[in-house]
Amino acid sequence: MVKARVAVLVSGRGSNMAALIDAAGSHDCPYRVALVASNNPEAPGLEIARQAGIATFAHSHKGLGREQFDLLIDDALRAAGIEYVALAGYMRILSDPFVTRWAGRMVNIHPSLLPAYKGLDTHARAIAAGDAEAGCSVHLVTPTLDDGEVIAQARVPILPGDTPQSLAARVLEQEHRLYPEALARYIRTHGGR
Ligand code: GRF
Repeated sequence: MVKARVAVLVSGRGSNMAALIDAAGSHDCPYRVALVASNNPEAPGLEIARQAGIATFAHSHKGLGREQFDLLIDDALRAAGIEYVALAGYMRILSDPFVTRWAGRMVNIHPSLLPAYKGLDTHARAIAAGDAEAGCSVHLVTPTLDDGEVIAQARVPILPGDTPQSLAARVLEQEHRLYPEALARYIRTHGGR
């Protein structure tokens, strides 16, 4: 099987990236992580990727316009022959041309049951609303933030006494299971470039 070449974009700790890399080690996984790219040269996720022997690209976005910066990322993706992009805690809003170029080939994981709680502070907002359940969603990336088609979701209960931190930990466990599974299924359905 020729594995699809995936790039993971991270800005921080990279635990979802690590889950994607781990899953790619299985022989029947339809993708391999060929590049990890970041807008934050200090992102801990970059070091995890390097230790796993994966090529990295890091460049600060500071001082660059959104489109200008995204062109740098796009160049790195093209140079690495990337077919699919997985956003994993990538904390930059992407420019429309970049999103259009990767339409149908770029996914994100978001820590809420979309369409509920787009944006930040999802767990605090779910607790404050008195919700019984929270969760995570894998969705296609479109120009509107956290708005593309949802391709997979996992749910967890919100328990009495939950804090945003305790809920985030319960959801994160599900993210690590859901994201590799959803990406693999999507790539199996949509094939290579
Ligand atoms: C995750 O909760 C993810 O859902 C959100 O950002 C967080 C990234 O965490 N988009 P990590 O860097 O994957 O550990």
